[in-house]
Amino acid sequence: MTLVAYNQRMNNASSTTEPVLDAIRAAAVRGLEPIELPAPLLNGNQSLTVALKLRRSTREYTDRPLPLQVLSDLLWAAFGINRPSGDRTAPYWRHVMVLDIYVAMPDGVRLYDPLAHKLLPHLKGDIRKQTGVQDFVSMAPIEVIYVAHGERMTDVSPEERRLYASVDAAFIGQNIYLFCASESLGTVFRGSVDHAALARILMLPGEQFVTFAQTIGYPK
Ligand SMILES: Cc1cc2nc3c(=O)[nH]c(=O)nc-3n(C[C@H](O)[C@H](O)[C@H](O)COP(=O)(O)O)c2cc1C
Repeated sequence: MTLVAYNQRMNNASSTTEPVLDAIRAAAVRGLEPIELPAPLLNGNQSLTVALKLRRSTREYTDRPLPLQVLSDLLWAAFGINRPSGDRTAPYWRHVMVLDIYVAMPDGVRLYDPLAHKLLPHLKGDIRKQTGVQDFVSMAPIEVIYVAHGERMTDVSPEERRLYASVDAAFIGQNIYLFCASESLGTVFRGSVDHAALARILMLPGEQFVTFAQTIGYPK
């Protein structure tokens, strides 16, 4: 089975079969449109060492939205597909696709689909404030939430699930840091999150869990 086919199968398997929950989720997403991302432009001309020099955490933002092309390039840099095999810009645990990237924006939450390079509607409404506990959270246009599929991490303890899922998120987070540094964007990777509350808000099924969040926007 190819990696792409495997991921498609796992994505299908992750949706609950409980009809009541399915109905609740369907109602929560109604009216939120998908976002078709333009093809990523892979011609950034900032050198890696300059981006490394500029990398930092930012905690003051304007509410200026990201242009669609910038959002596209950002998500590709974060965890997009960079090879015909379907593999990604970040390494991941045991070649098992564990991490999903949810993007909370003012109008709702969408799930990044790297295969289609598209943002799929997940939840209508602004939940950016609930992705963290610090004052600056929700000032920026984008709050990313890293969600792990625990059920895909077989034969490991709950502690190891947390550990490996966190490392997966951290690699993606650093990709975002470097992309933001090269595009004069600000970002901060955040562990100060009410994980259980956020999982409830996102209506995560079964063994999926929130690992970290990351704020992205234009610095003040
Ligand atoms: C695992 C982890 C969790 C973090 N959690 C938070 C957080 O909840 N809130 C925050 O403002 N910064 C958070 N940060 C960012 C760090 O505070 C920041 O990277 C560190 O102070 C160094 O600053 P710099 O990134 O500007 O170099 C976190 C960083 C990591 C690696």
